Amino acid sequence: MQPFVVRAPGRINLLGEHLDYNHGVVLPAAIDRFIEFQFEANLSGKISVEALDLAENWEFELAELSNLNVSSWKSYVKGVFLLLNFKQQCLDSFTGLHIKFKSNIPIGAGLSSSAALCCGLAFGLNTFYQLGKTRFELALIAQQTEHQYAGVKCGLMDQVASMYGQKDQLLAFDCLTQEINAFSLPLVGVQLFLIDSKVKHNLAESAYNERRAQLEEAFKKARVLFPELNSWRDVEPQQVTILCADLDATSQKRLHYVLDEIARVEMVQTLSNRIADQVNQGNNGNIEAPHALKMQYQQLGKYLNQTHQGLRDLYEVSCSELDFLQHELLNNPGILGARMMGGGFGGCLLVLALEAFNSSTDLTHLFTQFTQQFGVQAACYPVQISEGVHLV
Ligand code: GLA
Repeated sequence: MQPFVVRAPGRINLLGEHLDYNHGVVLPAAIDRFIEFQFEANLSGKISVEALDLAENWEFELAELSNLNVSSWKSYVKGVFLLLNFKQQCLDSFTGLHIKFKSNIPIGAGLSSSAALCCGLAFGLNTFYQLGKTRFELALIAQQTEHQYAGVKCGLMDQVASMYGQKDQLLAFDCLTQEINAFSLPLVGVQLFLIDSKVKHNLAESAYNERRAQLEEAFKKARVLFPELNSWRDVEPQQVTILCADLDATSQKRLHYVLDEIARVEMVQTLSNRIADQVNQGNNGNIEAPHALKMQYQQLGKYLNQTHQGLRDLYEVSCSELDFLQHELLNNPGILGARMMGGGFGGCLLVLALEAFNSSTDLTHLFTQFTQQFGVQAACYPVQISEGVHLV
């Protein structure tokens, strides 16, 4: 087989944070930050994987892999290889493989660099060994790698975004039915960008698993009381009241965040459709459109802010650095909304701003204040919605 190149993107998420493992709909998109892999057959009889950015090379034989004790990026590589579960005929025809990869996804920024690593590797190996697995099966393998080899009981949003992303389209991924639908959110007179707080607090993984366990426990209780419930999406307000009597104060807060966020996602889906309709009407010469459109974007910004508040006060996965940036950003009239994005405890904020907002100059003062207060230098990244994992 000729050498080939695979690109696997990171992701943003417009809304639906922490809903993927809570039966919700999430609204992610793949972005123009990716890991690029090169796969090349050789005659070494071994597999070598080279992390170009770290100048590290790892060589192993498949037969010994399960006994190797590894950490950091190597754990993900190990997990993907083992979970692909190669058939004997693949192994018999194997002569040797060299994989190199490099990344422009900032690590620890909440942009799912590890999902990109697992998805890109799984996709490349599926091509190399002609395993015939679907993108969805590969996404599940990438998710299982996180569960079994990184200890994070993540949902499936990041992997689906990386595998199924489409240029200029967001995805509505229904985590209950596993349906994936692309939709467009035209950005007219507004922009989305990211602010990286450059912090990642240690408790991120343990707190994530704890949130998941709290909600799973609450759902078990809900099912005892109301066996007909399929998901949090079916629960009626009076059932919530009854259930809450059975939950401790912390679990009640977590649940309220999830229910609010499920409702917000529905509203944002409706809003996105309305925006798309209005942009079309505007293109057809309807002069009412620009003002109405601006109001829709303002509303979208409010939903982003509400999600931030929920993640901060109810789900309690934010941190003082993100809260500071989010709060201060909103003092600028050019900012329509901002929220922390991803698992939490650091990483990026997703910001919706007017097009006139100049992120390279208008953030200087805020970033200086941020450095004075927290001793870290934040960064701003423009972001384009891009294609999911693909051969280059
Ligand atoms: C991380 C996880 C995802 C998702 C988000 C929060 O990125 O990997 O599965 O739960 O956090 O929305």
